[in-house]
Amino acid sequence: MLIAPSLLSCDFSKFGKEIERMDLAGADYMHLDVMDGHFVPNITFGAPVIKYVRSFTDKVFDVHLMISEPLKYIDDFCDAGADIITFHVECDSHIEQTIDKIISRGVKAGLVIKPNTPASAVFPYLDKLSMVLVMTVEPGFGGQSFMADMLPKVKEIKEEINRRGLNVLIQADGGIGTGNIKACAEAGVDVAVAGTSVFKAPDPKKAIEEMKNLCK
Ligand code: DX5
Ligand code: ZN
Repeated sequence: MLIAPSLLSCDFSKFGKEIERMDLAGADYMHLDVMDGHFVPNITFGAPVIKYVRSFTDKVFDVHLMISEPLKYIDDFCDAGADIITFHVECDSHIEQTIDKIISRGVKAGLVIKPNTPASAVFPYLDKLSMVLVMTVEPGFGGQSFMADMLPKVKEIKEEINRRGLNVLIQADGGIGTGNIKACAEAGVDVAVAGTSVFKAPDPKKAIEEMKNLCK
């Protein structure tokens, strides 16, 4: 299991240092939640901030766009140093054009589904994707409760990926910690996003290790 701490739970007055701290704690990806106050009822940060913190680690920058029109901003996030850009299938941009735009910039493309969106919504695009993100909370805020009823969607997507012989990772995001990460692994999750459970832990390194061990 790869662990992607969500920086949404960090101390933003020292964003760069928080990224360094997660790097040292053994994070695999840095999960960066971009919200526009329109697609979701919350606002976080955009490409300029990501550009400034890019130099604090060499780890993968996994940018989760919770914005209505991702296509308009793909160049900005690529220029800022994103390694993976995931955007929502429920957004207003043309899905295939947005995927093609990300790939044309040499960045990996991922598609996200909200809790009420069926697994099959990503199937038409699966061949072009590097990652599918299954939300296990309603997007917008950290610290919500994990929705275990999303795990059958993970299984369904995993089966389709295997059936087509593709190399697509499945990520889950929202409410993940030591109490449910094993169930995520068993369902087929490859990358777990963890905000509260890592940042609020007394020792984030231990928290990450423990989560990884539970999946072995
Ligand atoms: C929610 C974000 C998540 C969230 C995860 O909209 O996409 O990445 O911050 O935080 P926790 O682990 O606290 O649910
Ligand atoms: Zn996220």
